[in-house]
Amino acid sequence: MMLSETWHDVEKYFKEKLSDSPEMDVILKVNEEAGLPSIDVSPNQGKLLHLLAKMKGAKNILEIGTLGGYSTIWLGHALPEDGKLVSLEFKEKHAEVARDNIKTAGLENKIEVIVGDALETLPVLKEKGYADFDFIFIDANKQDYEQYFKWSLECSKSGTVIIADNVVRNGKVIDAEDPRVQGIQRFIDVLANEPRIDATAIQTVGSKGYDGFALGIVK
Ligand code: SAH
Ligand code: DHB
Ligand code: MG
Repeated sequence: MMLSETWHDVEKYFKEKLSDSPEMDVILKVNEEAGLPSIDVSPNQGKLLHLLAKMKGAKNILEIGTLGGYSTIWLGHALPEDGKLVSLEFKEKHAEVARDNIKTAGLENKIEVIVGDALETLPVLKEKGYADFDFIFIDANKQDYEQYFKWSLECSKSGTVIIADNVVRNGKVIDAEDPRVQGIQRFIDVLANEPRIDATAIQTVGSKGYDGFALGIVK
């Protein structure tokens, strides 16, 4: 059996044992049927984000890159009664699908999707009264991760957890021809040289192939 098949089987095993949620499965199906690309985080990764947000006791979450709201809703379900999540999405169509899913999940009072280029919506978050996030998930276009990280730091406080998806990309992170991989490398360099954060990266395998998360905590 191919190693990648094993990854899928093991993903399925842990998903069924530990991360199972028929409600979350419906969202993946809705997203697919709406024609969205299947680049949502995997079920086990969604549960991981959910647990990390809970471990942090996050009350004020920022997400950059909503797609159909799959990761958004995993994170939203980690919020306490008075918690809030803001998710930034470039494509109106993606945001519409996400808002429908958020409503189905009963999270419309806690989650707001803001449509626009995150490079434009991030700089005005603070003046709009959104700041001091305690948990930030970066998952939009890879070329701009460096900028997303810089703005994330601006909207952080001591103890803020910052997580970025897709930093391994099938191992390409150490061998950059692709502009998206170069974007990840610039982000990793900034992360490495930024004295305000303590960070690492973790490689993952599963139904989304071989990829990984970078994660850190603001000092
Ligand atoms: N977090 C989602 C997946 C996000 S996919 C999940 O795991 O369920 C990446 C998303 O980022 C796509 O919906 C894409 O439209 C969006 N995106 C790409 N460029 C963007 C930009 N400049 N600003 C905001 N969103 C952007
Ligand atoms: C892509 C984006 C993602 O956020 C992801 O998880 C996988 C792939 C992409 O743009 O190719
Ligand atoms: Mg991703």
